[in-house]
Amino acid sequence: MSKDVVLVIGAGGQIGTVLSEALRAVYGVANVICSDINQPRGSVIGYFEKLDVVDAKRLKEIVQKYKVTQIYHLAALLSATGEKNPQLAWKVNMEGLMNVLEIARQHNIKKIFHPSSIAVFGGHTPKKNTPQSTILEPETMYGITKKAGEDLGNYYFAKYGVDVRGIRYPGIISYQSLPGGGTTDYAVDIFHKAIAGEAFECFLKEGTQLPMMYMPDAVRATLELMEAPVEKLSQHYAYNLHAMSFAPEEIAAEIKKHIPDFTVNYKPDFRQQIAESWIETIDDSVARSDWGWKHEYDLSSMTIDMITNLRKLQKTKAYDETKFL
Ligand code: SER
Repeated sequence: MSKDVVLVIGAGGQIGTVLSEALRAVYGVANVICSDINQPRGSVIGYFEKLDVVDAKRLKEIVQKYKVTQIYHLAALLSATGEKNPQLAWKVNMEGLMNVLEIARQHNIKKIFHPSSIAVFGGHTPKKNTPQSTILEPETMYGITKKAGEDLGNYYFAKYGVDVRGIRYPGIISYQSLPGGGTTDYAVDIFHKAIAGEAFECFLKEGTQLPMMYMPDAVRATLELMEAPVEKLSQHYAYNLHAMSFAPEEIAAEIKKHIPDFTVNYKPDFRQQIAESWIETIDDSVARSDWGWKHEYDLSSMTIDMITNLRKLQKTKAYDETKFL
């Protein structure tokens, strides 16, 4: 059994919920400390600590109390919420990251995971098959904080040897948890409407293609990157990863194969502009050659798995808890 003690920050979020469970399977329930700004609604498995990552003192207390050796820092304001309150997005995303990097430097934390995002790309980035090294001119505050985070991660690695690793996550689709405040969130909401037998109103236009990934692939990618020998990593902070890319009408057509009455109407809002500043497809050959990344789910297999699992969940009380986390 590994002696690592892992702290997950933002454990109640879309990725944190599922990643914490995967980490408990690897490190043991007693060695995974979940933390979040919100108290969990349901019963807690293992240790939970309330934490606002902007509070450096509280973060230090938790790290010392449990003798933490690895941190997965997932707490952030995403693209759509960030555009509503850019100053808060900067504060939470940047001060939070700085606190995590500083605690890692001062307490010899072995490894840090902190995600970047496709939001680092901007209108001048090549939209198709976007290379690993390319133009990064983000147009949202979220993207600006993610780009600055990539630079800061690289800096802490080069200057202090803090082993900080990251992935440019695309939109993540999951049945276990709901996203919040992102531009890719529609690709999860659409399933909840479809299985409820309701029409879906999409806040993006037809033809708006974005990179996406199913949660099992995202979690596996995260664990595999963190396990990879450091000497194999040509990038530290921000691997491009590909799994699938689709526009709203393509996912709708895929869902209709299983739920033929399903309908979608399109009512684009401010998130359309955010989506248009991002890319359509991404080249992840560096991740594939550095640490053997390979996706498993495409649009069709993800859709089948989402519908099957949501239908199972729908019959349980847990479904309402998932929906209203
Ligand atoms: N899912 C994120 C968002 O839409 C992108 O990283 O903001």
